[in-house]
Amino acid sequence: DGDVYKYYSDGEWKTSSSGKSVAIINPATRKTQYKVQACTQEEVNKVMEMAKSAQKSWAKTPLWKRAELLHKAAAILKDNKAPIAESLVKEIAKPAKDSVTEVVRSGDLISYCAEEGVRILGEGKFLLSDSFPGNERTKYCLTSKIPLGVVLAIPPFNYPVNLAVSKIAPALIAGNSLVLKPPTQGAVSCLHMVHCFHLAGFPKGLISCITGKGSEIGDFLTMHPAVNCISFTGGDTGISISKKAGMIPLQMELGGKDACIVLEDADLDLVASNIIKGGFSYSGQRCTAVKVVLVIKSVADELVEKVKAKVAKLTVGPPEENCDITAVVSESSANFIEGLVMDAKDKGATFCQEYKREGNLIWPLLLDNVRPDMRIAWEEPFGPVLPVLRINSVEEGINHCNASNFGLQGCVFTKDINKAILISDAMETGTVQINSAPARGPDHFPFQGLKDSGIGSQGVTNSINLMTKVKTTVINLP
Ligand code: G3P
Repeated sequence: DGDVYKYYSDGEWKTSSSGKSVAIINPATRKTQYKVQACTQEEVNKVMEMAKSAQKSWAKTPLWKRAELLHKAAAILKDNKAPIAESLVKEIAKPAKDSVTEVVRSGDLISYCAEEGVRILGEGKFLLSDSFPGNERTKYCLTSKIPLGVVLAIPPFNYPVNLAVSKIAPALIAGNSLVLKPPTQGAVSCLHMVHCFHLAGFPKGLISCITGKGSEIGDFLTMHPAVNCISFTGGDTGISISKKAGMIPLQMELGGKDACIVLEDADLDLVASNIIKGGFSYSGQRCTAVKVVLVIKSVADELVEKVKAKVAKLTVGPPEENCDITAVVSESSANFIEGLVMDAKDKGATFCQEYKREGNLIWPLLLDNVRPDMRIAWEEPFGPVLPVLRINSVEEGINHCNASNFGLQGCVFTKDINKAILISDAMETGTVQINSAPARGPDHFPFQGLKDSGIGSQGVTNSINLMTKVKTTVINLP
């Protein structure tokens, strides 16, 4: 069927023997936009087999050659930013400009990874035995970093390209092979991106992209004996993956409830613009979005007024027209968001705007006077709805932040750097941003979540290290 995108296996584009496809619904139009292959478990087995054998020779390919191929893929990806961005617009309703940015950022990430990889992996260690008590200088220990084998990459819908390459590039530079399972919304963008790696000329079987239903191949992939590492970004599924996975390194990022703590002395204009950027870009569908504002009471009125004025200026509509707020990814997501909004309404939150929804499009909404008994104080809407809790003290803010089961990022606004550092130390999150909204990038910074927000650290350097293991050879002198 010419209308169904093929999957990528053994260096070729293939049709699944299932004869079935998975529909990708355009979030804005709610019509089927694309179809991808519904791959079978047998096809997964085949891909794993090839990934295993291709990895053996890839690991022996000189590091500089691996880097060269990655640089080539990065350049091809950037050259093809327009069609890839277009599919992002159609599949996940990301505003057109942001879609282009995602692809360019991904090309940069691949190149950075290639550069960082040749430095990190081109260096080993040399240890001498006589530093440990009781030893003479009779043992020389050589250490190097070797690949894990097959890395399984599962990116989420919100950054299908960028969070795919942030797993693919470190895996490949380190000498691993890579099996990619794209999210359904975002699968076509992933296939386009994989095509750039194909054009760069990577060996057959080294990279595969297998599409299909999670219910059919999800567990089969994550529990497959050939997989030596899983890098996953997404929701709760990650918790069940980690429970079922074998004794392999896991890199997971599973969402957050990033708090924005605002002190009395903060620059409120700066806070307001960061709340808009942090809370509403890509309609709040980012793990690192500001998901709860905790503001000291004395400045709350002023801050809420400033944010309200900026919310009024946000444009709402089609991603093609670069509207700030676009349809959320699916109807079930929109329903979930609405559930949180209605719960807050029943419990007496102040609506700074009227709640409005058309299909999957939800207008930006700031909820003031939210209290801890409301679901939205704790749950992540993954939509353009932002709760404000008024707090009496910084401690109250820190306690709220730390009572969350999430611990991805957080931010604090104050002109007092000493206070900011103390608050950062007290916040149980992987990262705290001082005077700026949470964000993963720049992509070489470490990125990690505590508690239910994840396991392992990301960022270029940490990912390369996580996707390798240490190998030592000891020379014993007579
Ligand atoms: O939601 C995915 C997470 O990695 C966010 O990335 O770049 O929007 O901070 P970013």
